[in-house]
Amino acid sequence: MSNVVIHEVHGKVGLIRINRPESLNALNNEVVDGIAAAIDIFEADENIGCIVLTGNEKAFAAGADIGFMKDFDYMHAYKTDFITRNWERIKTTRKPVIAAVAGFALGGGCEMAMMCDMIFAADTARFGQPEVRLGTMPGAGGTQRLPRAVGKAKAMDLCLTARMMDALEAEKAGLVARVIAADQLLDETMKAAQAIAGYSLPVVMMIKESVNRAFESSLNEGLLFERRVFHSAFALEDQKEGMAAFVEKRKPAFTNR
Ligand code: HXC
Repeated sequence: MSNVVIHEVHGKVGLIRINRPESLNALNNEVVDGIAAAIDIFEADENIGCIVLTGNEKAFAAGADIGFMKDFDYMHAYKTDFITRNWERIKTTRKPVIAAVAGFALGGGCEMAMMCDMIFAADTARFGQPEVRLGTMPGAGGTQRLPRAVGKAKAMDLCLTARMMDALEAEKAGLVARVIAADQLLDETMKAAQAIAGYSLPVVMMIKESVNRAFESSLNEGLLFERRVFHSAFALEDQKEGMAAFVEKRKPAFTNR
């Protein structure tokens, strides 16, 4: 595996670090391929119940690599389905993915964070869609996921002016689940990830699938989907174990069945 993406197993959590510090973790094919390969490994590993995607203290990712794409022509971009050809892997994994963002999450970096299931931000985090400044536009969800997260007004503001939003504004706007002191970011994120990974994996997957349905369907369709999946949870051994443990005042021992 490439050295621009590092993947490590910590207990029941798979940690992926983007590692191109010299370019503020600018995203090129090697990085995106590395992330997709790491997710493949963690998806196949029964022991892993949650994935954390992070960068370093200066940048989650400052966007797609400008040097890499600056000379592309239309045909190349179209034929290679630039750049999202395998970005979708972050979205298609059925295990939860937490983005732990410190420093810059700009352009494709902000879009990649938004593909994750939730974002935990260091108080140093800065989010933005500055593509307009480069004579281009967001191409991996910036004009679609950002308005769903923060509303049209703020999404227009960020995409049209290229300004950055700090962690507190991002939390207030609904883009970020938690703001954490920078020196605690990874510890706190890993703690939350270990907690998620300690629950029943099939239940966690059902919850993820159901929350995501809220963005793909009408309210009634979503509610019906949720109710049916909820009913199916009664087929799980982990449901019997979880409720028995509550009644017996002990910790549940989930077996992912
Ligand atoms: C390539 C990048 C880069 C990028 C930073 N670098 N961002 N290289 N692609 N997106 C490189 C710089 O060239 C520089 O390399 C090094 O990282 C450090 O960056 P500086 O600019 O010196 O740091 P600083 O002054 O602190 O400014 C930080 C910054 C600025 C505000 C984040 O780097 C910046 O504006 N970067 C571009 C952000 C951006 O426009 N992102 C959107 C990209 S388009 P050297 O070799 O000089 O040290 C996009 C489209 C996505 O993402 C479409 C679909 C996926």
